[in-house]
This record gives sequence, C-alpha cells and structure tokens, in this order.
Amino acid sequence: MSADLVSRLAAILGPSGLLADEADMASYAIDWRRLFPGRPLCVARPASTAEVSEVVKACRAAGAAIVPQGGNTGLAGGAVPDASGGQVVLSLTRMNKVRAVDPVGLTISADAGCILKVAQDAAAEAGRLLPISLAAEGSATLGGVVSTNAGGVNVVRYGMARALVLGLEVVLADGTIVDMARQLRKDNAGYDLKQLFIGTEGTLGIVTGAVLRLVPRPRHTVTALLSVPSPQAALDLLALAQEELGDTLSAFELMSGYSFDLLKRHLNLTPPIASGDWFVLLEAGASLSGLREAAEAALAAALENGTALDGVIAETGAQATQLWALREHITDGEAREGKSMKHDVSVPIVDVPAFLEAADIAIENGAPGAKVNAFGHLGDGNIHYNVVLAPGQDGAAINTLVHDVVARFAGSISAEHGIGQYRVDELLLRRAPAEIALARTLKTALDPDDFLNPGKVLPAGG
Ligand code: MLT
Ligand code: ZN
Repeated sequence: MSADLVSRLAAILGPSGLLADEADMASYAIDWRRLFPGRPLCVARPASTAEVSEVVKACRAAGAAIVPQGGNTGLAGGAVPDASGGQVVLSLTRMNKVRAVDPVGLTISADAGCILKVAQDAAAEAGRLLPISLAAEGSATLGGVVSTNAGGVNVVRYGMARALVLGLEVVLADGTIVDMARQLRKDNAGYDLKQLFIGTEGTLGIVTGAVLRLVPRPRHTVTALLSVPSPQAALDLLALAQEELGDTLSAFELMSGYSFDLLKRHLNLTPPIASGDWFVLLEAGASLSGLREAAEAALAAALENGTALDGVIAETGAQATQLWALREHITDGEAREGKSMKHDVSVPIVDVPAFLEAADIAIENGAPGAKVNAFGHLGDGNIHYNVVLAPGQDGAAINTLVHDVVARFAGSISAEHGIGQYRVDELLLRRAPAEIALARTLKTALDPDDFLNPGKVLPAGG
C-alpha cells in the first residue's frame, strides 16, 4: 500500500516533486533544533495548488496522514512527521512565487511557500513594508507564518500575522480547494472562514496562498538601546515611549543583564552603553519628520527621571543593525551556554514585572542553580522566560514551575511559538475543558479522520 502511494504521488508530481530516499528526506524529517526527529514515508513537493489537492486526495485514499511543512523553522515541532514511517510530509517550498504587489491597495499576494524575506523585499521594491519581522525570516515561508500566526518584533505596532491576513487560499482535508484569496479590507459576508486556518498549524486545512496587508514604508526610523534598572523601569519607559512617540513605536524589546552576559561570554558581543540589570531595545518609524527629535527628547526625559541609566540612539543604519544583532543573538548565546527549557509566555503587559519577580522566586526555590535568561517582546507582554538548567536538573519540573506562575497571572503558555507537538499535553492541562471541547468540535468538523497533521495542537485521535 505504501509503495503504491509513493508511485501514485510520483505520477502526480513528476520526478522533481517527490523525495523518497532517506538521505534526501533528512532535512524534512526533523526540526532545525533537532528536538523532534521523525520518519516520513515520503516528501511531496507540489508545484501548484491543484497538485496539493491531488496529493491530499491520493494520501486520503491510501490512509496516509499529511504533515504540511514550510521553511521548517518552528520551535514546537509542528511541521515534522512522527516516527511511524507512514506520514507524508507535504512541503510547500516549490510554491514560492510572489503573485502580485499592489502599492496603492497596500496588498501582497503570494504562494504559501514564498520565503518571508522574498515577500518583504518585493514589498520594499514597491516602496511598501510587509511588517512581519522575525529571526527566521530568511527561511520561514508565508504559509508557515500564517499557519502558526507568527509574532516577532513588530507586534506592538502591527499585530501578529493574523492582523495582516486579508485573504487565503486553502486545501481542505478532502482535497477541496477553497479560494478566499481576496484583497478586501472589508468583508462581512458571512463567517470569516480564513480565520479557521490562521494559527491552527495545518490541522484544519493547508494554506496554499495568502494575501497580506502592507503598510506605507516609514521614511525615518530610530533605533535606541537603553539600560534600565528593573523591569518596572522598562514598563515606565514603555509608557513614556507611547506618550512621546505615539503609534510610531514599532518594537519594544526587553533583555536581561544575563542575556547580555551570554552575548559577551559566548559571542564577544557587547553593548555600546553602560551596563544595567536590564536593557530595552526600541524602534520607531514615521514618514513625517521630527521623529528623531521626539526620540531624543524621550531619551533625555528617561535619563533625567532615572527610568533609564544610559542609552544610545543609532546614528546610522549600520549602527541600528548592530543594536539589533545584540537582540537577535540571544538565542544563540543561550544555546552555547547549555541545555535550556524555553518558555514562550505572555501575561497582561502591566503584569510583566510582577510575573518576572514571581517566576524568579519559583525558580530560586524550586530549581536552585538554574539560570534565567529572560528576554522578549515587552511591548506586547510576551516574555521568553528561558531557563538554563544546572547539571542533572529536570526540565519538565521547571516547565511546571514557570507555567504555574503564568497561570496565576491568567497568561498564556505559548504566546507566539504555537503548540505543535511540544505542548499538546500542557495545552490540555492549561486550557479550560470547554475551550478544548470547542477546538475538538472544529477539528472533527473539518478533519473527521484526523488526517491533517495528527498529534499537533490536539492529541492524535482526538
Ligand atoms: C525570539 O524572539 O528571539 C524567539 O522567539 C525566542 C526564542 O528562540 O526562544
Ligand atoms: Zn520571540
């Protein structure tokens, strides 16, 4: 039966569209952090939406589950197959074209496998901005960005991927193509069905194309790094920045002194300002002039009232890139330090300082010797509260400690990385039974045979 399916898929896709050799499939079988190894039956690489539909129908007829995959840059193992050797990875990476850019209507349409950076560049060429920015943008695909409702560093101004999706084209579990790739800003004609496929990690349907919202490209950008005495001071700085820079504020990132310690020790990266216990990297963009003056005034006010201890505003684009490099290399520095447990949590923005204090106490008491690498998107309440383990420490117990604190603040155990296979069990524990039941109702309605990405978001078999 498996051999029959492989030949059937080869007939649909042609020689460049199917991989069945173990060596060829290796990079599709495991996530990039190598935490979730799997073994696919084969990797289908369709070149069109019609081919996706044919692949779905063939797999369904053969009873082989499908695991959709984009750039495979996720952090929760949502795009890799299980170890059964029976699942088909459906890679969208050959469907990689920008379909159209409309600089007046401010939209970009693209295939699901289009790399985020390619779409950003296409928007920039038209003088517009696709305002999704994340570390993996050179390999992440738009389909993956949409299917995981990706976040990143610009959420404070532009929202998560969901806020930018105007239209989608999807293939359902029975192979039906649903073309909702409309460019409309307003569309209240019935249920907003595209929402079913945003952030649901390929468990309800396969995104094959997307229309995203663009914004005018700001002519002026300011990027500043500040050291601050505490998370509460960082929050006060956020309030000041909102006051002084208004809605031009596009990034507001918090980083701990320990994050910078890792940067220095492992990557020889140091900040161009006096160190503090915490750091903030902020960015603002505007087309009208006066932004830099406003940022300078805000920085002066923060230094004056003690909210900030030191600070610098980038003078050039190259300096701005250097400041961002500090933020972007934290994960790398952490990986070189040793084994860590990642926690991608969110709490109400005003509760971040209290959350950090409570979580630190929980770790000090419950896991002495562990080191907390806390950093993230303070502007939207999302903290990467990563814990570097001391030798012999139990990662799962630390997970529970941190997520119990998250629960006290009515927060989320996955702010932007999704559930994938990594947090399926925890989701069941942490979300109310009524919410899980509703999620199951949706899954059963759209994919009654648990054929699309089984075992992701919800447990396999329901
Ligand atoms: C980031 O914002 O850098 C990533 O989402 C964090 C991570 O790798 O944990
Ligand atoms: Zn992040």
